[in-house]
Amino acid sequence: MPENDNQLWGRVDQYISESLVDEDSVLRETLRRSRANGLPEINVSPSQGKFLHLLARMASARTILEIGTLGGYSTIWLARALPSDGSLVTIEADSDHAALAERNITDAGLSGLVDIRVGDASEVLERMRAEHLGPFDFVFIDADKPPYPRYLELALELSRPGTVIVGDNVVRRGRLPDESTSDESVNGVRRFMEMLGSDERLDATAIQTVGAKGYDGFAVAIVR
Ligand code: SAH
Ligand code: DHB
Ligand code: MG
Repeated sequence: MPENDNQLWGRVDQYISESLVDEDSVLRETLRRSRANGLPEINVSPSQGKFLHLLARMASARTILEIGTLGGYSTIWLARALPSDGSLVTIEADSDHAALAERNITDAGLSGLVDIRVGDASEVLERMRAEHLGPFDFVFIDADKPPYPRYLELALELSRPGTVIVGDNVVRRGRLPDESTSDESVNGVRRFMEMLGSDERLDATAIQTVGAKGYDGFAVAIVR
């Protein structure tokens, strides 16, 4: 049977998920409900959700900041990495997305740990800085791509030495190295990567990924 790259990556991703990823009924119901409510299917994949969960545990994170909630799928993976007295703040601009996420997070039994802040992420982050919130142990940046550099700057102000910062979708089917692109998402990610590489406060790399979500990648950084 002929198979293209995407089908092959999807099949291997499914194998990995079935072998290693304990996606339970709560996570499956989160995605089913998100689809039924017409949310875009741009959540992290199960293997990526588990990857974020493991990274947060490796960092012994007690406080997590997420930028871009959608239906709460990645939020649930991350919040499950927290100790019982931990906390997670997640920021979402779309009130319909936030309402559905709240339902999913409540069903996951995590509403006591998770605070959903509805609003534009730059504004919410600036307010959080003014409130002297943080520092966060772990930050996941996954909202709209053009302001990624701004989100990184604001995340740094809510961080401490040792904070782990992960950025989603930094490869976007290989368009990352395209210096002459007029795509503002690619340009936002390019400036984000430049900042990760040049800012003295950060030590970073990025890893390309293939799988259920096609060809993309994560950037990972630690605050010096
Ligand atoms: N982290 C989620 C996926 C997030 S998708 C997961 O993996 O399950 C990106 C989300 O960012 C969408 O829900 C979108 O509404 C939200 N978003 C887009 N622009 C935003 C902004 N300026 N501020 C806050 N959220 C924004
Ligand atoms: C898109 C956004 C995401 O955060 C993602 O993981 C995949 C796709 C998008 O806007 O197309
Ligand atoms: Mg993403």
